[in-house]
Amino acid sequence: MKRKPPDLDSAYSLQTPADNRALYADWANSYDSSFAVKMEYQLPQRVAEIIDALDVSGRMLDVGAGTGLLAECLENRARFEIDALDISPQMLAVAMQKQLYQNAIEADLTQALPLKDGTYDAVVSSGTFTHGHVGPDALDALLRVAKEGACFVLAINAEHYGSKGFAAKFALLGPAIDQLHLHDVAIYGSSADPAHRHDRSIIASFRKL
Ligand SMILES: C[S@@+](CC[C@H](N)C(=O)[O-])C[C@H]1O[C@@H](n2cnc3c(N)ncnc32)[C@H](O)[C@@H]1O
Repeated sequence: MKRKPPDLDSAYSLQTPADNRALYADWANSYDSSFAVKMEYQLPQRVAEIIDALDVSGRMLDVGAGTGLLAECLENRARFEIDALDISPQMLAVAMQKQLYQNAIEADLTQALPLKDGTYDAVVSSGTFTHGHVGPDALDALLRVAKEGACFVLAINAEHYGSKGFAAKFALLGPAIDQLHLHDVAIYGSSADPAHRHDRSIIASFRKL
C-alpha cells in the first residue's frame, strides 16, 4: 500500500526521535517545495529578522536546521560561520547543498550533544521546538555549548510552549540567562491549510550570562 506523503499533521503527531528520523528522511527532498511553499511558512523569516537586529557575530548553531531555511533568510549571514545541527542526515544533506553552513552535525537534541562547552556566539532555531519534536530539556545542553554572553533566538510553537512547561523552564534558568524577550508571531500565511493558518510561535530571545 502506498504511504501517505509527510505533512504537518504527521510531523506534529511524532512520538520519538526515531519517528522524527524516519519522517524527515521521506520529507527532505520535498520539504521546501511542498510544505514551506503551500503553508506560506514564515517562521524562519521572523526568527531571522530578530537575529539580524541583534549585535552579534561569530559562530552560530542552527538547532534542528532542517533544509536550511533559517540561514537562507538571514540578511546578515556574512557575519556568521553557521553550523547546522539536525537528527536527520537527509535534511542536513539538503541544507549543505545550499552552501550556507560550515559544518553539518548529525545529533539528537534529546541526548548528549557531541559539541564542546562554550563554542557558539549565537544559538538559533525555527520549527524544532514543537509538537512531537523537542521539549524544554534541550535548553540545558544548548546553554552548555554557548559562550558567555551568547545570543539565543529560539522559536517555540505557542501551544507546545504551554503544554511542555517552557515558562517554568525559563524561570528555572533565570540565574543563567538575561534579557529574555518573548515575541508572539504567526507561523504560516493566510492561505495556509485552514487547520493551521492561525498557529502561533513564541520566539524567545535571551543572552547567556
Ligand atoms: C519542522 S523542521 C524545521 C526545520 C527548519 N529549522 C525550518 O524551520 O524549516 C524540524 C527539524 O527538527 C529536526 N529534529 C526533530 N527532532 C530532533 C531531535 N531530537 N534532534 C535534532 N533534530 C531534530 C527534524 O529532523 C527537522 O529537520
